[in-house]
Amino acid sequence: MKASGFATLVDDASIIVCCGSGGVGKTTTAAALGLEAARRGRKVVVITIDPARRLADALGLADGLGNDPRRIELQADGELWAMMLDATQTFDDVVREHSRSAQQAQRILDNPFYKNVASRLSGSQEYMAAEKLYALDHDERFDLVVVDTPPSREALDFLRAPRKLSNFLDHRVYRWLMAPARGGLRVLNIAAQPILRTIGRVIGADVLADAIDFFQAFEGIESGFRDRAIAVEGLLRSDRTRYVVVASPRSDTIEEARFFIDELRTLTIAASGLVVNRLQPRFGSGTSAAARRDSKAAAEAGDHKAEVLLRNVAEIRKVAEAEEKAVAPLVSAAKGAAIARLYLRADDVHDMEAIASLGRDLLAATN
Ligand SMILES: Nc1ncnc2c1ncn2[C@@H]1O[C@H](COP(=O)(O)OP(=O)(O)O)[C@@H](O)[C@H]1O
Ligand SMILES: [Mg+2]
Repeated sequence: MKASGFATLVDDASIIVCCGSGGVGKTTTAAALGLEAARRGRKVVVITIDPARRLADALGLADGLGNDPRRIELQADGELWAMMLDATQTFDDVVREHSRSAQQAQRILDNPFYKNVASRLSGSQEYMAAEKLYALDHDERFDLVVVDTPPSREALDFLRAPRKLSNFLDHRVYRWLMAPARGGLRVLNIAAQPILRTIGRVIGADVLADAIDFFQAFEGIESGFRDRAIAVEGLLRSDRTRYVVVASPRSDTIEEARFFIDELRTLTIAASGLVVNRLQPRFGSGTSAAARRDSKAAAEAGDHKAEVLLRNVAEIRKVAEAEEKAVAPLVSAAKGAAIARLYLRADDVHDMEAIASLGRDLLAATN
């Protein structure tokens, strides 16, 4: 039988991006999908952008994760690795890679504007996430990259970051700042330019001089950046990359999941998977009405214990039915995607065994 649902997803995808609001189980889902894929023979790296140490903890890596992938010990045909994005370090690596010489790289890396501003600019973090994804996708050690995104609406910004960067590089202001470097003129005379004098008064002449020096040091690098930005965007939009939206039955997380599905749709991407996690277990397949009937029958038969137990089951199923009703619009919004319902467990999912068990449920789901 051909694999279906999440099994197909972990077998076929090159990149799986997990998104959703905080606390729904994105990190857990990313780890579970990664683990299942490894068990099915793939060489997987799970990358978290989430500064919380959830992934490391769940994978049993007490001393945390860094910007380089670490292999997790596993009895499996494939391999499981994990890492945590360090945007600043990734930015440095990218600068080194695209520079024409070690001196040029050093001039940029030592520049105060680069050190204090560039890597903190809004969008930098997202662009570096996209960059890292690209690097991991091209890393021969791995054939699947699973991405755990931060718990915010901006989580999908890395899809737009490459476009923003290439727009910026084409921008007039940038081109103008670069002009003296292109013309062979090494120094842009701030004092001689009224507009620069004004900007300098506002942000400080030193900062401005550093910024100009930074952009000039970038000379010749930007085409590498632009080409890469285009390649990253192509990768994120290709069908090698699949998106999994995670939600819990709470109305705010349902709304957030619908936002992600719509957001992807505006980028002409369809979500490939929907995970509804932390659902109330139903204890059997019947309805709350059926349990209530059984409870009454038990009362009539004089079985007080069964009466009380069945009344509790009826209450629990009522909650489950309300949850199912609440998630129904989300499920239909995700039409065409693999859909998995995962139940709230008695304990947190904090070790490999629990992740593996959740992963099995995820792959066994049949919409
Ligand atoms: N099905 C589940 N049953 C019980 N606890 C869960 C389940 N899924 C996740 N958790 C727990 O919920 C918390 C949040 O999960 P996490 O994956 O970190 O969410 P996110 O990354 O979306 O913030 C964690 O403590 C995790 O162990
Ligand atoms: Mg998380």
